Amino acid sequence: MRQQRYLSVLFIIIFFSATLIKAQEVEDEREFDYGEKSEKGPKMWGKLKKEWEACNNGEMQSPIDMSHERVRIIQKPDKRHYKLCNATVKNRGHDISLQWHGDAGSVLINGTNYPLQQAHWHSPSEHTVNGRRFDMEMHMVHFNENATNKIVVIGVLYKIGKPDRFLSKLIRNISSMIDKKDEVKNAGMIDPREIKIGSRKYYRYMGSLTVPPCTEGVIWTIKKKVRTVSRAQVKMLREAVHDYAERNGRPLQPKHKRPIYLMAPDDTA
Ligand SMILES: *[C@@H]1O[C@H](CO)[C@@H](O)[C@H](O)[C@H]1NC(C)=O
Ligand SMILES: *[C@@H]1O[C@H](CO)[C@@H](O)[C@H](O)[C@H]1NC(C)=O
Ligand SMILES: *[C@@H]1O[C@H](CO)[C@@H](O)[C@H](O)[C@H]1NC(C)=O
Ligand SMILES: *[C@@H]1O[C@H](CO)[C@@H](O)[C@H](O)[C@H]1NC(C)=O
Repeated sequence: MRQQRYLSVLFIIIFFSATLIKAQEVEDEREFDYGEKSEKGPKMWGKLKKEWEACNNGEMQSPIDMSHERVRIIQKPDKRHYKLCNATVKNRGHDISLQWHGDAGSVLINGTNYPLQQAHWHSPSEHTVNGRRFDMEMHMVHFNENATNKIVVIGVLYKIGKPDRFLSKLIRNISSMIDKKDEVKNAGMIDPREIKIGSRKYYRYMGSLTVPPCTEGVIWTIKKKVRTVSRAQVKMLREAVHDYAERNGRPLQPKHKRPIYLMAPDDTA
């Protein structure tokens, strides 16, 4: 009798701990991934959730190839005013992101100010230039809730070469969160001005976020100058994210006749 009761208690414990483990697994499950043939891969994103429909139905999706651009000479280039600000590094599972908390400054585009919120990395690059894909792409995401087009992303392309100084600074923080989805680490005060962005020439077009919900109306700035990152740094970023996102570049999307401008500042002004 006693033994039986003992056994049923034991059974209940085993049963509940098994369902608990299962529940955790479900929670940890990827929401989307990058597998070409996966049922949660880029071709399926728009079907996974109602709020993600734009990923499949949108007509202004990103990334696209930067070719056949029209050159536009501009007198008032975008102005960046970044500031030293407290930041955290987060492993989002599908990428590593650096989030600023407080005023990290902003970019001024055609009279509208867009505060900087976060930066993250994709490898290989998402945007291509004349069909060429690069080894990495960093996105600096800016947001102004009052603007018509609320999101501005500045993209920087990298090819393998010398290490990127900015990533080198974050190496300890990033390598301490390998495979730890949702882990957040305090990175201390990080100055966005230390991100080497490069030349004043850039491509400009209207697109979307490159991950679900694929929100459109994003003002894209892709810097023309290609910078360098070391093989070890790309490897570190890939190891830190989950296996399903080691290669976290979304494939190219239809252009739908959208104009792409190469903005060249008027140096004689
Ligand atoms: C930065 O953020 C961390 C974590 O939120 C906090 O503990 C720390 O006090 C902040 N530092 C400054 C200088 O604001
Ligand atoms: C800049 O803003 C003005 C006024 O809001 C608008 O008329 C113009 O089309 C904008 N220019 C660009 C390039 O977006
Ligand atoms: C948006 O408008 C609100 C209310 O006027 C203001 O407090 C806030 O700073 C504005 N946001 C930006 C990014 O300008
Ligand atoms: C993250 O980076 C900051 C600044 O380099 C450093 O002070 C902190 O100890 C790092 N944290 C971890 C967990 O590596």
